[in-house]
Amino acid sequence: MYFTLLAIHSLLRWLVLISLVLVPIIGYTGWLTGRSFTKRDNLLRLVATTVCHIQAVVGITLYFVSPVIDYFLHNYGTAVHMRQIRFFGMEHSLMMLVAVVLVTIGSAKAKRKTADKDKFKTLAVWFTIGLVVVLLNIPWPFSPLVARPFLRGF
Ligand code: HEM
Repeated sequence: MYFTLLAIHSLLRWLVLISLVLVPIIGYTGWLTGRSFTKRDNLLRLVATTVCHIQAVVGITLYFVSPVIDYFLHNYGTAVHMRQIRFFGMEHSLMMLVAVVLVTIGSAKAKRKTADKDKFKTLAVWFTIGLVVVLLNIPWPFSPLVARPFLRGF
């Protein structure tokens, strides 16, 4: 269960990233060119937001089954000083939740805007901030302190 969830979570990261790159691209181009906000744009907004929500649900589930988190919660006093354990116990989980909330707010605000230009602008700004937060909190293989693989086998 734990390793399957970890592999799913690792794989879903790529869908999250693709979503968080595509939405700002259509946001900025739509905003700058002044084109109409189509049903396809709206579908992309919806799919991107849903992908982030699914990743959050998998991440939260992982939080309850991960031995790393189990160690963190049961040995808080010492674990909070261990960079790799604290990263997943606090920084990663909290900041990723913040990113998902930002994306959700942006998506909901864009939906409520009436002018197409405002829809594009809202998506561009909120999803770009979400993307930056996600990029900064992924444990990349090249991260100096907490490195994890690009993909994990099931
Ligand atoms: C939404 C964007 C998120 C992305 C892109 C993301 C990405 C990742 C990646 C790449 C890993 C490393 C996987 C591996 O070791 O192969 C990971 C681990 C983990 N993530 Fe996330 N994550 C996200 C959200 C969350 C959230 C919201 C939570 C919990 C509240 C969470 C909890 C965890 C935990 C507990 C681990 C691993 C702990 C362990 O190694 O046992 N993640 N995440």
